[in-house]
Amino acid sequence: MSQPLHSERFTPFLQQEKLQRPRYRALFNYLQQRILGGELPSNSRLPSTRELAELLKLSRNTVKQVYEMLHSEGYIETRQGDGSYVALQLSLSQTQQARSQQPQIQPIQLSAMSAQLKEIRPLFHQDKQRLLLPAIPALDQFPWPAWQRSVGHAGRQMRFSRDRNFMGEPQLRNEIARYLNATRGIRCTTEQVMICSGSQQGMQLAFSMLLNPGDKVWVEDPGFPGIDGAISNAGGIKVSVPIDRHGFRADLALANPQAARLAFITPSRNFPLGYTLSIERRLQLLQWARTQGCCIIEDDYDSEFRFDGPPLTALQGLEGEHSVIYSGTFSRILHPAIRLAYLVLPPALVAPFNQMRGFLDGGLSSLPQLALADFMSRGLFAGHLRRMRKLYKARRAYLRQQVEQRFAGQLTLEPSDGGMHCVFLLPPDSDDNAIVTAAMQQGLGIRPLSYYYDQQSPLAGLVIGFAGYTEEQIDEGLARLKPIVTQQLAITHKHRS
Ligand SMILES: Cc1ncc(COP(=O)(O)O)c(C=O)c1O
Repeated sequence: MSQPLHSERFTPFLQQEKLQRPRYRALFNYLQQRILGGELPSNSRLPSTRELAELLKLSRNTVKQVYEMLHSEGYIETRQGDGSYVALQLSLSQTQQARSQQPQIQPIQLSAMSAQLKEIRPLFHQDKQRLLLPAIPALDQFPWPAWQRSVGHAGRQMRFSRDRNFMGEPQLRNEIARYLNATRGIRCTTEQVMICSGSQQGMQLAFSMLLNPGDKVWVEDPGFPGIDGAISNAGGIKVSVPIDRHGFRADLALANPQAARLAFITPSRNFPLGYTLSIERRLQLLQWARTQGCCIIEDDYDSEFRFDGPPLTALQGLEGEHSVIYSGTFSRILHPAIRLAYLVLPPALVAPFNQMRGFLDGGLSSLPQLALADFMSRGLFAGHLRRMRKLYKARRAYLRQQVEQRFAGQLTLEPSDGGMHCVFLLPPDSDDNAIVTAAMQQGLGIRPLSYYYDQQSPLAGLVIGFAGYTEEQIDEGLARLKPIVTQQLAITHKHRS
């Protein structure tokens, strides 16, 4: 027997102070919740659309639309010549019973691999309002009108580009290959270039393609912390290798050549100390990779900004094209949010990486890729780079000179031939974390050098970005930093004596 539906069942709907918009959505949600909650039991007869429209002061079309939605989602059924009823198959177990028992929601279980990520040192949040952040380019110098023209051009081009290419848009890959051949001595064809959403994605992909669970990866200590999660997520184990002024201590690592399957290094400029890998060690590492069937990932994150000479030839260019995956990014040259980077793959890895990319994300959106290809083909990228190299060189000189003047005896420059930040060492035993914590409260984005260390006993120091800041901003940042450094060094001195 069907039960009649009483109008008081709709009183709460009428009493709602503010009706959700659109109204049909409000009525649909109301009826859906009542049906699922068992207040409108199976087999209850709903009022006719005319009756309900009058009662709720809604248009009849709105109520009709709601009934159609409830019908098509299986909540109600229509009986010929009789009306609409709450569906019979919504049994008690799914409605009243479910409601009365209020089952406890069990948390979704993360995989062991994801749970492991909690153990990894967190990355600093890049709050762009802060002063002296490392890795921030001069965003106000970016040629926005020209970029917008390139974006417009890309939008028009998209009409004609129908092919999906997992490795990236051929125009952009072609521009990158040409640029790398000319400026970095990289040996590659367009086919070897794979576009990624940041070098972070490229590394993640490379690790997942090259590591078996438990395989070891040599990394520099100190080094880029963003790599930790990518290695761990691929089931790999990070093995930290110290560096010295000649870069990665290949002599230490190669004492046991079977110890690792992969090496992740920054040969042009160690991150963050800025040391360049010597030619002897480059050749030793290449020899290791070739003879052991291993791979080197060369993270060339900001080699464009070498101020004391032309950019160095990449490791890949030293006959490393079969053993080295070269990784470059546009985050530092153009904009951190552009999220475009690339890998240059050894020819033998192109097909498997292409296949994997199809499974992973099917490639990236064409629009920013086509825009960047246009920007590069019109010489705007090269022009911007030339201007930024000049500007950053001047900003670096200003920062160095100001630190020397204001922090004599407190901060000592660790020389490097380029980059977007400088490292200044503090006296031994200083607490660089305490300085940075206090500096952050004053709106600064400097980093403690010790944060980048893994095992080697860390040097205390400050990593100070200059590229994105005018002389006035550098002055302002250093003025805020001075009392903090003085106070902290006094505390250290007191503890020591
Ligand atoms: C050394 C190093 N490698 C790689 C990256 C990641 O670059 P992307 O923004 O392209 O993911 C960074 C970012 O700052 C970096 O400092």
